[in-house]
Amino acid sequence: MNQQEQFISIINEGYTCKGENLLLGVAMLDGNAIPDAKITIPIKTLNRHGLIAGATGTGKTKTIQVLSEQLSGLGIPVMMMDIKGDFSGIAMKGTEKSFITERHTKIDIPFEPKAYPVELLTLSEQEGVRLRATISEFGPVLFSRILDLNDTQSGVVSIIFKFCDDQKMPLLDLKDIKKMIHYITAEGKAEIEATYGKISTATTGTILRKIIELEQQGGDIFFGETSFDVQDLMRMDEQGKGYINILRLTDIQDKPKLFSTFMLSLLAEIYYTMPEKGDAEKPELIIFIDEAHLIFKEASKVLLEQIETIVKLIRSKGVGIYFITQNPMDVPSGILAQLGLKIQHALRAFTANDRQAIKQTADNYPSSDFYKTDEVLTSLGIGEAFVTALSEKGTPTPLAATMLRAPESRMDILSMEEIASINASSKLVKKYAESIDRESAFELLAKRISVEEEATIAQTNNSNEAKKPSAKADDGISKSVIKVVSSASFIRGAFGIIMKLLKK
Ligand SMILES: Nc1ncnc2c1ncn2[C@@H]1O[C@H](COP(=O)(O)OP(=O)(O)O)[C@@H](O)[C@H]1O
Ligand SMILES: [Mg+2]
Repeated sequence: MNQQEQFISIINEGYTCKGENLLLGVAMLDGNAIPDAKITIPIKTLNRHGLIAGATGTGKTKTIQVLSEQLSGLGIPVMMMDIKGDFSGIAMKGTEKSFITERHTKIDIPFEPKAYPVELLTLSEQEGVRLRATISEFGPVLFSRILDLNDTQSGVVSIIFKFCDDQKMPLLDLKDIKKMIHYITAEGKAEIEATYGKISTATTGTILRKIIELEQQGGDIFFGETSFDVQDLMRMDEQGKGYINILRLTDIQDKPKLFSTFMLSLLAEIYYTMPEKGDAEKPELIIFIDEAHLIFKEASKVLLEQIETIVKLIRSKGVGIYFITQNPMDVPSGILAQLGLKIQHALRAFTANDRQAIKQTADNYPSSDFYKTDEVLTSLGIGEAFVTALSEKGTPTPLAATMLRAPESRMDILSMEEIASINASSKLVKKYAESIDRESAFELLAKRISVEEEATIAQTNNSNEAKKPSAKADDGISKSVIKVVSSASFIRGAFGIIMKLLKK
C-alpha cells in the first residue's frame, strides 16, 4: 500500500457510519482533496457537543450552514445564535457559481441548490419571533447568578421570591422585582422583618443597581410574557425538514450580559422541560453559538461553572451545543474537554500569542502520521478545516484535513422583503407578538400600598412600634432567613433542580 492508499484506508475505517450521518466533505492529503476519503459524522454522537474555530474569513459560518442544512434534511431542528447576521440566506436556494463547481468537482460530491425552513427569532424589538422569559421562571438561584450577586444578596433575592410565592404575586418583569425591592425596604419593611429578619438597604441597593444594569442592556424587553416555549424550537415542516431557528443578535455585541442571561435561561429551560433521552440514535436539537467568546468573556467564575454543568447535563436530553469562536482558547477548558466534534479552520500566525495559540491548538488534536498539525493549521485554505469527531462507538476519529462542501442554500443574507415575507407567514411570530402585562407583583404591590396608606392615615400616631427598625446592627441575613433559603422546598427553578441532582 502506498501512502495515499494507507490514508484512504485509515480515513474510511474511522469515518464510515452505519447509521444516519452528515457528509461534510472529503479528506485532504498534501493539500489535495481525496474523493475516496469521505468525511461523514454520525448523528448519533452529535449530542456530545462541539467546537468550530478559526480566524475570521476562514469559513466557520459556512461550515455551520453546511451542518445545519444536513441536520434539517434529516429532520433535526437547529438553533443558530447569529451574531453577525450573516446566516439568514439558508432560507433561500443557493446559486451554483464557478468557485462552487470547482470545489465540488474536486471533492466529487453533487451540488444541488436547496432552501430550508427558517424561523427568525429576536431578543429585542426587531421583527421576528419574540423571545421572552419571566423572572419567576428563572428562579432565585439563576437570577442571582446572572446578576453576579454574593451570598448575602442572593439570600435577599431568595426572600423576595419566597415572599412573592407566598403572597401569590407573580414576578414577571424587571418592573415587578424592582417594585418588590422597593417595597421590602419601605412599606413592607416591618412585615418582611417579622418573618425573614432584617434586610440591609446596602444589600438591596446593590441588587437594584445590578438589575438596572441588566435593564440597560435590554433586559426590560427580554423579561416578561408571553414566555417562550422551547418546544417551539423543535418543529418540522411538512416535508419533515427540521426548522432552522435563527436568533438574530446583531445588536448584542455590546450587551454580553443580556446574551449570557438569555443563553442560560434557554439551556436551563431545555434541561428542565425536555425528557431524559440518554445517548439516543438521533439528537432532538442542535444549538450553534457563534462568537461564543461573548458568553464567556464577562461571565464570573460561578456563572462559568454553571454553564459547564448544564453543558454536561443537557447531553442526555439529546441536545448538542456547538461553540463557534476564533481562538479555541476562548472556550473554558472545562467545556473544551467535553466537546466531541472539533472543526478547526485555519489560524493565522501574526504575533507571538498567535503562535502560542497554534501550538496549544495543535497539541489538543489527535496526533497524525499524515500531517504536521501546526504547519497545516496555518496553511489550510478557506472552507478547509481539520476535523475530528466521535465515531458511532464513541471513540475519536482520525484527524482529517477536510475540504468542506459548499452550502446548497444562499451564501448571502436575505433582503428586507424576504425577511418580511418569512415573518408574515410564521405562526410563531403571531403567537409571541403580544407583550402581555397581566397583574403581577408591580400592580399587586401598588394596590396593597395604597390600602396600607389609607390604614396609616386612619391610625395616625399609633404605629411607631412596627416602623422602628430593631436597633441591632445586622448587615447580613438573620438565621431564620438562612433557614428559608436552604430549605429543600425553596430551591426551585431549573438550576435549583440541577443543584439538587448534583448533591445526590
Ligand atoms: N465550504 C465553503 N464552500 C465555499 N465557499 C466557502 C466555504 N466556506 C467559506 N467559503 C467562502 O469564504 C467566505 C467566508 O466564510 P465565512 O464562513 O463567512 O467565514 P468566517 O465565519 O470564518 O468568518 C464565504 O463568504 C465564502 O465565499
Ligand atoms: Mg462567521
